[in-house]
Amino acid sequence: MDITTPDIPLCRVADIPDGGVLGLDPATPHGEALVLARDGDRVRAWLNICPHTGRRMDYAPNLFLFKSGLLTCAVHGASFALAENGLCVQGPCRGDSLSSVPLRVEGGAVYRA
Ligand code: FES
Repeated sequence: MDITTPDIPLCRVADIPDGGVLGLDPATPHGEALVLARDGDRVRAWLNICPHTGRRMDYAPNLFLFKSGLLTCAVHGASFALAENGLCVQGPCRGDSLSSVPLRVEGGAVYRA
């Protein structure tokens, strides 16, 4: 499954912990790794790419430092406020934002828009 295909669900809403994040890797080498965040029925996504140096933000595949709404990059510690659409609020790329990925939710499943 290639997660860049809009007709194939990325995951179920229930796969994402409420108030937490879920990382997804692409099935192909040319796909994009994503970070999905859930707040109740609301699901948002960003590329798993730190705007500081372009590296992945997880400390192990799809394991993230996430607490109190802040996603912290495991490389140099930049913190991103997911409630502020991924704005970096602390660290070396303060003021930059994560790249958001449009989604749609249908029937409890999450798709790329
Ligand atoms: S690569 Fe993320 S803070 Fe430097």
